[in-house]
Amino acid sequence: MTASVYVVGNFKGGVGKTKTVTMLSYESAVFKKRKSLVIDLDPQGNASSVLAKTGNITEINKNITNGFINGNLENEITKILPNLDLIAANTQFKDLPKILIKKFPDDEEKQISYLKKLIEPLKNKYDSIYLDVPPTISDFSDNAMFAADYCIIILQTQELSLDGAQTYIEYMQYLIDNYGININVLGILPCMLRPNGRVDEKVLNDAREKYGTNVLSTIVNHQERLKAYDSEGITYNKTKNGLADQWDQRAHDMFQKVLNELDENKKIFEKNN
Ligand SMILES: Nc1ncnc2c1ncn2[C@@H]1O[C@H](COP(=O)(O)OP(=O)(O)OP(=O)(O)O)[C@@H](O)[C@H]1O
Ligand SMILES: [Mg+2]
Repeated sequence: MTASVYVVGNFKGGVGKTKTVTMLSYESAVFKKRKSLVIDLDPQGNASSVLAKTGNITEINKNITNGFINGNLENEITKILPNLDLIAANTQFKDLPKILIKKFPDDEEKQISYLKKLIEPLKNKYDSIYLDVPPTISDFSDNAMFAADYCIIILQTQELSLDGAQTYIEYMQYLIDNYGININVLGILPCMLRPNGRVDEKVLNDAREKYGTNVLSTIVNHQERLKAYDSEGITYNKTKNGLADQWDQRAHDMFQKVLNELDENKKIFEKNN
C-alpha cells in the first residue's frame, strides 16, 4: 500500500474545499473501503470538527501542531470510523510559520517541504490521504502542494469567472517551475454553493475550453443536507424499513460520482507515467 495524497484547492474562502475533503474521505472510507486519512491543515479546524462529530468523538487530544513540533505525525492520528482517520488541527496551528522558521532558519525549501517529509512514514498505512487547507497563499498551502501527488481544484460556477481556479493553477505552476514539485491536476470540480443558484454555463464552457476533460462532468449542487453535516457530522441514516434516508443518499451519490471520476482520471495519469 502506498497512499496517494490529494489537496483540494482554491485561494478563495468558502468555496467548498472542506466540504469536498470531508465528503470524499467519507465515500473513500465507508463505501470504497479504502484506508483513508484526512490531515487538517487549517487552524480553523472545520474538517476536524465535522469529522469528530461524524465519529461521535467529543474530545480530540492529538493535533497537527504537536506533530510539526515533534517531527512525528504518526502519534497524532485520531480514529474516526473504520477505515477513516484524522489528524486534527487546533487554533495553535496558526503558528506554523513560526514553527517552521525556528526549525529551519533561512532554509525556505525545507520550511515548505516539511509536511512532505512528515507524511512519508504514513504512506504505507493508507490508500488515500486528503489535505484540507486554508484559503491563502501561505506556508500552509505551500506545504500541502509540496506533499500532494494530485490537486482537486474547486471551480465556483456562480462567480462568473474562472479566477479562483486559475490563480491556484498559476501558483502551482510557479512551485513546479521554481522547486520542481511533482503535482498534477486530477480534476476541476464545479461547485455551486448557493441555494436556487443556476450553473453559469459560460463559466463552465470557458473552463472546459481551457482545461478540457480535467473539468469533471459531475457538478456539486447546493443541498441542505450537506450544509447540515457541518453541525451534525456526516450521516448515512436508515429509515425504519431499512432503506437509506433519501437526502443522505443524494449527498453520498453525488460525491461518489465525483470520486469515481477522479479515480478514472488517476488511472489515465498512472497509465501515462
Ligand atoms: N454543496 C453544498 N451544499 C450546501 N452547502 C454547502 C455545500 N458545499 C459547501 N456548503 C457550505 O458552504 C460553506 C462553505 O463551505 P466550506 O467550508 O467547504 O468552504 P471552504 O472553501 O472550505 O471555506 P474556507 O476557505 O473558509 O476553508 C459551509 O457552510 C458549507 O456547509
Ligand atoms: Mg475550509
